[in-house]
Amino acid sequence: MSIPQQSDTGSGPAPARVKLVGRALNVTVAHAPWLWPLLRRPMTSYFDGRATTWDERTGAPGADHLAPLALAVTKIDRRPERALDIGTGTGVAALFVAREFPRASVRGVDVSEEMIRQAKAKVGLDPEGRVDFRVADASALPYQDGDFDLVTLLNMPPFFAEIARVLRHGGHVIVAASSGDQTPFYTPDPVLERGFGRRGMVTVKAGRIGRGSYFVARKGE
Ligand SMILES: C[S@@+](CC[C@H](N)C(=O)[O-])C[C@H]1O[C@@H](n2cnc3c(N)ncnc32)[C@H](O)[C@@H]1O
Repeated sequence: MSIPQQSDTGSGPAPARVKLVGRALNVTVAHAPWLWPLLRRPMTSYFDGRATTWDERTGAPGADHLAPLALAVTKIDRRPERALDIGTGTGVAALFVAREFPRASVRGVDVSEEMIRQAKAKVGLDPEGRVDFRVADASALPYQDGDFDLVTLLNMPPFFAEIARVLRHGGHVIVAASSGDQTPFYTPDPVLERGFGRRGMVTVKAGRIGRGSYFVARKGE
């Protein structure tokens, strides 16, 4: 299977073929997550191969890339104590959350070892261990039920069941796409609403900023 060349599933415009393959992957993860084991290896090797140039090619650390996440965090009514960024790539969203919530401990996970290497290189001296990155698969997260009160996904397909499982009651999930519906890993709002709704979560807010989009839901108390 050929995984999309992106420009690069983040904030830049993506060619039609990339969007098509990215969307197909998203639909698979959202509706048939049991097929994910067939996709894991090509997906991982695709992102491993792009990790060292990811930030440069996608502008990941930049304001455009992060804008929908930055707006979405203003829609949650509680400051998180423990946050998890899934599909963290080079860690830009996790580091943004850590800056935004200076008292929160933040974890970032990705299936790609090379991406995690890049993310770890960005963590400076951190005696409190407030931010940490590790290799992990979003379909089987290495965390206990209810471990987090904020889960973020930036340009990443949603594994609904695992997100709902690791969220504490009253916790929030943010799904953001840097280029809105032009993002290859974009999940339409109705799919997010249904997927989270089936797991006892209610939609808080969905919106747009520039070319980006975000969706926020909360797990019932
Ligand atoms: C489009 S990139 C987005 C990276 C980062 N969030 C950003 O916006 O710059 C998608 C990331 O999700 C990771 N990924 C894809 N499927 C995953 C899974 N099942 N578990 C963990 N990470 C996954 C990929 O390795 C890749 O780093």
